[in-house]
Amino acid sequence: MTSSQCGFATRAIHEGQEPDALTGAVNVPIYLSSTYQLQGIDKHRGWEYSRVNNPTRDAVEVCVASLERGNLKGEVSGHAFGSGMAAIAALVTMLDVGDHVICGHNVYGGTTRLFSEVIVHHGIEFSWVDTSNPDNVRRAIKPKTKLVHIETPTNPVMTLTDIRAVADLCHEHGIPMSVDNTFMSPYFQRPLELGADVVMHSTTKFLNGHSDGLGGILVTNNPKLAESFRFVQKCTGGILSPFESWLILRGVKTLAVRMRQHDANGRAVAAYLVKHPKVSKVLYPGLESHPQYELAKRQMSSFGSMIAFEVGSRANADKLLQSVKIITNGESLGGVESLISHSATTTHVSLSHEERESIGITEGLVRISVGIEDIDDIIGDLDQALGKI
Ligand SMILES: Cc1ncc(COP(=O)(O)O)c(C=O)c1O
Repeated sequence: MTSSQCGFATRAIHEGQEPDALTGAVNVPIYLSSTYQLQGIDKHRGWEYSRVNNPTRDAVEVCVASLERGNLKGEVSGHAFGSGMAAIAALVTMLDVGDHVICGHNVYGGTTRLFSEVIVHHGIEFSWVDTSNPDNVRRAIKPKTKLVHIETPTNPVMTLTDIRAVADLCHEHGIPMSVDNTFMSPYFQRPLELGADVVMHSTTKFLNGHSDGLGGILVTNNPKLAESFRFVQKCTGGILSPFESWLILRGVKTLAVRMRQHDANGRAVAAYLVKHPKVSKVLYPGLESHPQYELAKRQMSSFGSMIAFEVGSRANADKLLQSVKIITNGESLGGVESLISHSATTTHVSLSHEERESIGITEGLVRISVGIEDIDDIIGDLDQALGKI
């Protein structure tokens, strides 16, 4: 049996990561070489120049592609970039002047900023749509629509989109669909299995898992898109470095166990928060009160550890964030450590107050990425900090 036929945790540890042919090292070495010796004119061992490909980056691309492929048949390929934003920027290079994109209306603020302040100047039109209702997507489709990009669950308000329903709709119209799967990781959600054409990750988050490196990846089972992503890596050069590729390989080896613990801790924190008198709302797809709880159970294998909750005002949020001791007030997510942040002034600062309010990002909304510390310590810390507001 080859590793590609094995279960998720085994593939995370072995896919693309055969022991090193020269030394037997069980970890893929960090190939710090920009160039490779050729064996004659137009003859090489598979590597010529590291912008095009690099053995350490190849390993992470093969491994993450295998995890996202799940039980799909056929070729699935990964393409790693220097950050999540670089991966999204590479995704939209498949568009031409005059093309139209439908994008979820409450995706990560950096994605909104890239599309509405940079890409729009290259002659691409965007519609910002509440994709949680597939009918809204149907209504927004135009003859020139060439991409539907969604995030599910969304950052930070945890709204879901039915991937299967939107993918079916896109395919009726011949439109590729991409899904930002950063919040769930392939351990809990595999959009390609549900019909999406491209999966995107900020590997900075759960895939790396240790908050020590930036990265992004596009994974696709569409050979034409794979070819175009490969070409973009070569042409624009915004690729992932060998060192950061290695950091992701190191992180992904423990993805399965980390995600199980993130999920257990996330559920416990959500259950604690719903009962707290200072918390008026908890947004977590694992709560029965979440309006899309049934969809969450259908398209995700569990609920993860991203939670947003309402503490009533900016002053309360500030007090809470200043009072936590074990949990860190920090903007990122998906690391082993618990991180808490105020979305209005961090991830979504580039939106106007009105834009934020319209998608539910109030001044009192706080997001927590629940880490894998001892759950009693996480809840104890939240308890003492909430007690101060
Ligand atoms: C859902 C989501 N997508 C994309 C990004 C961008 O990734 P990066 O910071 O690696 O560029 C982020 C960053 O927070 C994110 O949360």
